[in-house]
Amino acid sequence: MTVVELLIYITIAFVLQVAIFGAVAFRRHWGIYQDMRHRMVGFDTDIIGEADLSRPELDHPPSQEAHWKGFRNFRVSKKIFEDRNKNVCSFYLMPTDDEPLADFQPGQFLTFQLNIDDPSGEGRKPIVRCYSLSESPGHDHYRISVKRVPAPAGSTDLPPGLSSNHLHDHVQEGDVLAVRAPGGHFFLQPGNGPIVLIGGGIGITPMISMLNAALSTGSKREMWLFYGVRNSTEHVMKDHLAALARDHDNFRLHVCYSSPQPGDVEGVDYHHRGHVDLTLLRQTLSLKPYQFYICGPSAMMEALVPALYDWGVPKQNVFYEAFGPASLIKSQPQDTLSPHEITSSLPVSVTFAKSGKTVTWDGSSASLLEFAEDNGIEVASGCRAGGCGSCQVSIDEGEVEYPQPPDFDPDLGCCLMCVSRPTRNLTLQA
Ligand SMILES: Cc1cc2nc3c(=O)[nH]c(=O)nc-3n(C[C@H](O)[C@H](O)[C@H](O)COP(=O)(O)OP(=O)(O)OC[C@H]3O[C@@H](n4cnc5c(N)ncnc54)[C@H](O)[C@@H]3O)c2cc1C
Ligand code: FES
Repeated sequence: MTVVELLIYITIAFVLQVAIFGAVAFRRHWGIYQDMRHRMVGFDTDIIGEADLSRPELDHPPSQEAHWKGFRNFRVSKKIFEDRNKNVCSFYLMPTDDEPLADFQPGQFLTFQLNIDDPSGEGRKPIVRCYSLSESPGHDHYRISVKRVPAPAGSTDLPPGLSSNHLHDHVQEGDVLAVRAPGGHFFLQPGNGPIVLIGGGIGITPMISMLNAALSTGSKREMWLFYGVRNSTEHVMKDHLAALARDHDNFRLHVCYSSPQPGDVEGVDYHHRGHVDLTLLRQTLSLKPYQFYICGPSAMMEALVPALYDWGVPKQNVFYEAFGPASLIKSQPQDTLSPHEITSSLPVSVTFAKSGKTVTWDGSSASLLEFAEDNGIEVASGCRAGGCGSCQVSIDEGEVEYPQPPDFDPDLGCCLMCVSRPTRNLTLQA
């Protein structure tokens, strides 16, 4: 064999090797691509378009100008149960003054002041609670859906939830409730990008408002709902959600039962056994720039929100709301502080001027409200999540900071004790 022939053989062998390597790589990537396409069936991105924002004709259409200050009276026009257990009840609310409703963003909440019998037998007392609007904007009424809260398991001395049980047991159709205008920073962001809604238990209420809003206006936005409950007895608005999934190609419903009952059938009543978790999301969702909206029990949120960040979801694409004391530090991560970024140099002293007490803050309390209560100082509170304004007090001296921005805007020179912490020596009118 000549040198030239040898060179030709080597060149052919090299070209063959490159071709085989290329073919194998192409096959592998084609498989992944086909798999992704398969999982995206029904979600052709071309169909994403502007929503038709037309709304039904109403005598008094909701308007931005109709926002009101303080409390306004609403009559309960209808009360219906939404689950088999009759633990979740919807209240339909019409203003008694016949003026237009204030418009709202799907996901926002109303704040109620209720006069209830004090369980300690000290007569009636006002309490304040927030409830998410569970219907889309654009109707002649508001709707909230309230879950009855029992006493903590095993407790013999604590009363069941005051507001939820009062609403279920004592508020009837025709009764009047005092309601503050819609508010809150947790709502569906405008745009056409794909959306993943995750609702755990009663955390489904803002998700239903968002879904109804998007789907009823003809939006072709890709929407997913992952809804976790224990079983069919707790499954809220089951028929409504199934009908939405049946009627809208751009909406996918995934219901998870953590402990199905003997009669609950997988594939009929629910889609997955277990909790909504990252494994399920990874198995189900394609690789897309989703926005995630999460509301549910704190255990679910504490697990899921950091898991989404670890998965690589940008923080500005994760929105969440807690229905109680928020144990998570960040709700809108783009402009919030993490615990180690809190700027106070500890310890600082906090003076409660009205109570005549000065106490040292060492940073171990979650909020000024918790700190005050731990030190025997009584402070009014409602939502305990920065939404209702009940815990607002004026600051005589010093400064506070908010690990997450509150939904309620405190007055100048005041702070919301339930979601704030001192940054230096502080004197409060409490
Ligand atoms: C923005 C927002 C939106 C919300 N949306 C909804 C919604 O759409 N639907 C809904 O159902 N809820 C919603 N909530 C929750 C709601 O506001 C109330 O927190 C909930 O109804 C419980 O209130 P309650 O008065 O019934 O219970 P509470 O009286 O506040 O009691 C809560 C629990 O604490 C126990 N308890 C009482 N005293 C003590 C004590 N001394 N020590 C320890 N435990 C005690 C009670 O037994 C009960 O289990 C929302 C909350 C927020 C902040
Ligand atoms: S208790 Fe509602 S804002 Fe603090």
